[in-house]
Amino acid sequence: MRTLDQLLEKLGEGDRVLLRGDLNVPIRDGVVQDTTRIEALLPTITALRASGARLVLCSHLGRPAGPDPSHSLQPVAESLSGMIATDVPLLEAMPPDQRTMDSISSLAPGAVALLENLRFDPGEKKNDRQLAAILASLCDHYVNDAFGSCHRAHASVDAIARLRPAYAGLLVASELSALGSLRNSPGRPFWLVLGGAKIADKIGVIDSLSGDVDGMVVGGGMANTILAARGFPVGNSRIDPASIEDGTAQRLGSDSPLVLPVDFVCGPSLHDPDSAAVIEVGDRIPDGWAFYDIGPRSVELFEKTLTPAQTIFWNGPPGVFEEKAYQEGTRALAGFLAGHSGRVFVGGGDSAAAVRTFADSDSFHHVSTGGGAALAFLEGRSLPGIEALERSSMPS
Ligand code: 3PG
Repeated sequence: MRTLDQLLEKLGEGDRVLLRGDLNVPIRDGVVQDTTRIEALLPTITALRASGARLVLCSHLGRPAGPDPSHSLQPVAESLSGMIATDVPLLEAMPPDQRTMDSISSLAPGAVALLENLRFDPGEKKNDRQLAAILASLCDHYVNDAFGSCHRAHASVDAIARLRPAYAGLLVASELSALGSLRNSPGRPFWLVLGGAKIADKIGVIDSLSGDVDGMVVGGGMANTILAARGFPVGNSRIDPASIEDGTAQRLGSDSPLVLPVDFVCGPSLHDPDSAAVIEVGDRIPDGWAFYDIGPRSVELFEKTLTPAQTIFWNGPPGVFEEKAYQEGTRALAGFLAGHSGRVFVGGGDSAAAVRTFADSDSFHHVSTGGGAALAFLEGRSLPGIEALERSSMPS
């Protein structure tokens, strides 16, 4: 795999570099709520700027169905501008057009611009060669520093690496080194702690990881789905019916211990905090109510279960911690894991944000910017983004 140092050695002043980042960050009312993923890109951005590159950043944000102003990367451009104390213009056309090309040509060496959300173009998720060719025409060199997106075979991650020499950014290199040590030699007992809302994405990964770990503690939407599969009432809670229909949710827990919440903080909606109440698993749930956080007995159970672990990988918060009424479970878990004596790894944008909100990131062995990507890597699957970097460095 080609390294950033190899690129820096050959970079000419004013060369155009397309840098794929994972700038998929939480945004509320037009303001970035957690800057972890932006900050994680700064070492690569700084190194390229210092070498005189004209830098074109690109990323996806969320899962828009097409062009959608509520998924614009404008707030990210503003946040990054503040961090590097220089204006980062957002190049709005997606797919990029002649004006984009002209704007990039007029950037001074060391300047940075950001392309609009790649997923505004349906070609991004389809790994479309035509979109990749447009992206390639904007640059002389391509750098992938989007570790969190490396499990996606998308145009800006995979197809483009066939059209330009591709280099791994500093973040990708450091993630591969930290997670590689976890994958190759986890101290035992090794426990997974899982939560979050992307149920369908993760449940299959968990299914296949369950034989490699000593146990799993599960909260969030996945716990709801498994409980529903086992016949417990879950009210209006978010579940993944497909994982129940195909039997995956029922199967989880057959290869290694699976610890589920025993109580939840529930409510009629996320926006009615005064009604929030604790309900034991199996008890009747008022009509229309849903689980939004784990309850205090679950926190106790999770802590007791995880205390003897030597290694822990945490992906996905157990509750909707952005809402005050539903943040106690995540707060308690983050605090407990920060003080744990084993090696604790954290993966994923939301989990990294939770760690920053409720604990000190430095108390953890490694905080990965990748959620689904980190899980897929641990599972031993090859990641399309990493494969593309490896392929690109091979003599043709
Ligand atoms: C993530 O948040 O895990 C990455 O940005 C990937 O996002 P995606 O699951 O929408 O591809």
